[in-house]
Amino acid sequence: MYNVREISPQIYWIGGNDRRLEQFENLFPLTNGVSYNSWLILDEKTAIIDTVDDAVTDQYLENIEHLMQGRELDYLIINHMEPDHCGNIENLVRRYPNVKVVGNKKSFQLFNQFYNMDITDNQMLVGEGDEISLGKHNLKIITAPMVHWPEVMMNYETTEGILFAADAFGTFGALTGNLFDDEVDYRNLYLDESRRYYANIVGKFGAQVQSVFRKISSFKINMICSLHGPIFRSDLNLILDLYDKWSKYEPEKEGVVIFYGSMYGNTANTADALANKLGQRGVKDIRVYDVSKTHPSYIISDIWKYSHLVAAAPTYNMGLYYPMDNLLHEMAALGVKNRKVAIIGNHSWSSAAQKLMTERFSSMKNMEIIGETFDIKSRLKDDEEQKLDDLADVIAASVLGNTEE
Ligand code: FEO
Repeated sequence: MYNVREISPQIYWIGGNDRRLEQFENLFPLTNGVSYNSWLILDEKTAIIDTVDDAVTDQYLENIEHLMQGRELDYLIINHMEPDHCGNIENLVRRYPNVKVVGNKKSFQLFNQFYNMDITDNQMLVGEGDEISLGKHNLKIITAPMVHWPEVMMNYETTEGILFAADAFGTFGALTGNLFDDEVDYRNLYLDESRRYYANIVGKFGAQVQSVFRKISSFKINMICSLHGPIFRSDLNLILDLYDKWSKYEPEKEGVVIFYGSMYGNTANTADALANKLGQRGVKDIRVYDVSKTHPSYIISDIWKYSHLVAAAPTYNMGLYYPMDNLLHEMAALGVKNRKVAIIGNHSWSSAAQKLMTERFSSMKNMEIIGETFDIKSRLKDDEEQKLDDLADVIAASVLGNTEE
């Protein structure tokens, strides 16, 4: 059965939900699926903005058939050429052979890389500021290169003030029938997953997100439609402010994320003891993760959120325990910066982890190493407690704003 909803006069959500997919991009675990949003405008001219992943093709084509009632499709606007959104371009061109497929040079280059169909005759090249008039509705093209792919565009619908934002402002998590931010408990249902989506998928491209903010600053935006997750129409500032902060790599909150690697539980014991000491000193909302257990995308999401990090890991094969190595590599790749970091190594017969973690963090921008970094010898003993107390004092003072200058 068709499954659509009018979100504004003549504008319809025609997307689908996938709750079976285990990992988005075969990388990021999904606990509650993901939505692929697509939009149909039924004006004097008809237009579809982006398509959907192959996984929801049947539902998608049924939705379009139901709404189109035999009309011709005039425009298919391709804001993003990643397969979770362009999986149905070929299907739509086959069904509507006269459709103008709207994109830029890079969109069509990517289309030709991914697909075999020749759509040269359908192509309509657009660039910054171009406008497509559908009748009452008018779509202005905003290029958004590297948010998070090079071809990305957004559209500003000038009559209603709707921003079709490609992946930006999106989230993991399928839709629940409540399509709008004022119909869901966004903070509880989506916010953590939105941050995880941003940090891991868009996080590297903060400067490009800021550049889009500058472009859209003069637009009156009443609604934001992302390609994943709910539509913002009530509390737009919630997501706009978060995106501003996230893209500047500023923490949302003073707090500590402790992430450790531990082969036999000894580094875990030190991490837990440190967390306990921080709690006793008044630090609240501490997060503790085992890097061998928790998927890095969740840890990175909290690294984006909090101001202070503690990394603890053993030496392994005379190098760094590789789940920690992998996490630090990913952090560097995503351009994490502006955090305060404490480091604890562990070794039994050859010390490398402490030095390597220090090097990794030092290679990231504005990562201030605080407290005295130390290296456990196999297991922290009771008579070494002072080291942990000293470190807890420094971290707690920094988090709580009590650092004496
Ligand atoms: Fe939702 Fe970048 O694809």
